[in-house]
Amino acid sequence: MLDAAMDAETDLREHMREHLAAVVRVQEAIVRGQLDQVRRDGAWLIIHPEHVELADAAADVERLRAAAVVVAEAKDLPAAAAGLAALGSACASCHDARGAIATFEWEPEPPDEASLAAQMRRHQWAAARLWQGVVGPSDELWRQGSSALSTLRLDVGSLADGPSGPAVKAAVARVRALATQAQNLRDPAARTALYGELLTTCVGCHQEVRPGPRPMP
Ligand code: HEC
Ligand code: HEC
Repeated sequence: MLDAAMDAETDLREHMREHLAAVVRVQEAIVRGQLDQVRRDGAWLIIHPEHVELADAAADVERLRAAAVVVAEAKDLPAAAAGLAALGSACASCHDARGAIATFEWEPEPPDEASLAAQMRRHQWAAARLWQGVVGPSDELWRQGSSALSTLRLDVGSLADGPSGPAVKAAVARVRALATQAQNLRDPAARTALYGELLTTCVGCHQEVRPGPRPMP
């Protein structure tokens, strides 16, 4: 009996790690402009059979699927970013209802270097911590993400002078303002909304200065 119960538990965790892998890829794909990858993972979340142990959580599972539909059918990257935020809050609401706290593997903060690409990897790291703070839900991870984000350099250099200058400067200011706001947010719905806005801002600047997809890591 005990063995069976433990196996079932392992399986549910395994299943949750598949959820996690899918949504981590969605987040990465959004900032790398890979809309097809975003849609594929969204579609997987809709069609994959939910774990038997969650059979009594039909309403939460429905919420998850509804958010996944938005991701799978996103017409562009900003729409996908908003869908991903809603997806995170659907994950969190089931965790919260069941007193489960999702744990994540530790990822080291990428090194601080002068190049914009290196600074971007740090932004990605901070955004991923915020995301885990939403999904967990976890105050600690949200706090890590928001305090990292508020200290990061974002040296756009000559991008600020080109034809996209005004849009670039506005995006930098927006990221900074959102980072400051994030540090004071407690409410889960407000955190989710801010995360969606942040990702939309990342994507907005990428579309302006770096159109076309980048390879996934
Ligand atoms: C219908 C309920 C439900 C939904 C929806 C849900 N989860 Fe979970 N999740 C659980 C439960 C219950 C556990 C605790 C499992 C355990 O500890 O045995 C869990 C645990 C986890 C864990 C920790 C796994 C581990 O190794 O300990 C992660 C990561 C996770 N969920 C990610 C997600 C993500 C990402 C989503 C959304 C795409 C999601 N979950 C949606 C119920 C849900
Ligand atoms: C002001 C414009 C701007 C904003 C805002 C911005 N980015 Fe970027 N991002 C860029 C540019 C330009 C590149 C390409 C850099 C290069 O390859 O030299 C890039 C590249 C990236 C990369 C790829 C890095 C690599 O390894 O090649 C990631 C990941 C990334 N950004 C994440 C983010 C995240 C997450 C945010 C929001 C928190 C964000 N970016 C906000 C301009 C921006």
